[in-house]
Amino acid sequence: MTNTDGYSMVAWESLIGFWRVWVIHLGRRYGILEVLSKARAPLEGGEIAGSLNLNPYAVDAWLESASALKVVKKTSRGYRLPRALATLLVDDENPKFMGGLVSYYALRSLDFDAFDALFLGETHSDTHGSHLSEAFVEGTRWDHTVFLKTLLPKLSTLRRKLDAGSNVLDLGCGAGGWIAKVAPHYPKSHFIGVDPDEHSIQEAREKCRSIPNAEFTLGRAEELDFEGVIDLIYLGEVLYVIKDKQSVLNACYRALKPNGYIVVCEAVCDPGRNTWRDENTLVRGALLDYMAQGGRTLGRRDISQLIANAGFAKPREHNMHGGLFFFVSRKPAGSTA
Ligand SMILES: C[S@@+](CC[C@H](N)C(=O)[O-])C[C@H]1O[C@@H](n2cnc3c(N)ncnc32)[C@H](O)[C@@H]1O
Repeated sequence: MTNTDGYSMVAWESLIGFWRVWVIHLGRRYGILEVLSKARAPLEGGEIAGSLNLNPYAVDAWLESASALKVVKKTSRGYRLPRALATLLVDDENPKFMGGLVSYYALRSLDFDAFDALFLGETHSDTHGSHLSEAFVEGTRWDHTVFLKTLLPKLSTLRRKLDAGSNVLDLGCGAGGWIAKVAPHYPKSHFIGVDPDEHSIQEAREKCRSIPNAEFTLGRAEELDFEGVIDLIYLGEVLYVIKDKQSVLNACYRALKPNGYIVVCEAVCDPGRNTWRDENTLVRGALLDYMAQGGRTLGRRDISQLIANAGFAKPREHNMHGGLFFFVSRKPAGSTA
């Protein structure tokens, strides 16, 4: 085999990228990357296996693969993780973190029955036995970090509202990762998470057991029936999977108090920029994943238009890069419905 022409590069890059995704995911899953990120000196496989109680042969094989794939560096004294990769793959409190997204793709590739359902029209299996909710937890870690550390610092009025005490609704809350991250910073505010997936709601309740201002309830966005009582609604990577998006945004508008905030977080393609940039290629390339979940990828303009059509002020778009945008808008003051 040669890699002399552009087309064979596509195949080579795919194969190598596939294994790099798996090696990174396994390294996160079994704690190997974390141990390497904390080590002050290079480590041998035996030391890592001993500290994590893992099979030393498997750890040696992981290190061998990870070094071939340039995830770790082999030195004469053992293996080390470059600092920049520790930030990108391990530190989920850092806005540059991407490790969760890598795990998301590894976990989604375990659920091929969802693609059978899409291509062959077979009945969609329920999500309980699948890796979907675990994939969501991993894939959205970064969203929650950038919400707290990058978006909120730009929104002083919203921060003041949350400090003073607000009613916050996390619609499509999944396993409660956003509330777990945000609610402890605003003890005077009350956070309600709603999601149709029973397993995720159970996990959210478990995760937030020690957070007194958080509660979770089973429900669908389409059933929202609050009237003018909410100060902030967060829709975190949910809109893409909702069928009647406009009715849900209209219901969000009704649920909010005047001056209340809506924050929509979605991975979108940004056609204003080069559509072949890596981040756009990633979002466009993930279309089948969105479709296997019964959704579709949304464009930046689609989302802004849906929000404005519901009666909100034209949303401000905050580009977090990596394909992720926050759309922030408010219900106009003085509006009644
Ligand atoms: C990508 S996950 C995002 C979870 C969460 N917002 C977060 O940021 O961690 C999408 C979530 O949307 C939920 N969902 C799917 N259909 C929904 C609907 N009709 N109403 C509300 N949530 C829905 C799923 O159960 C899943 O938990």
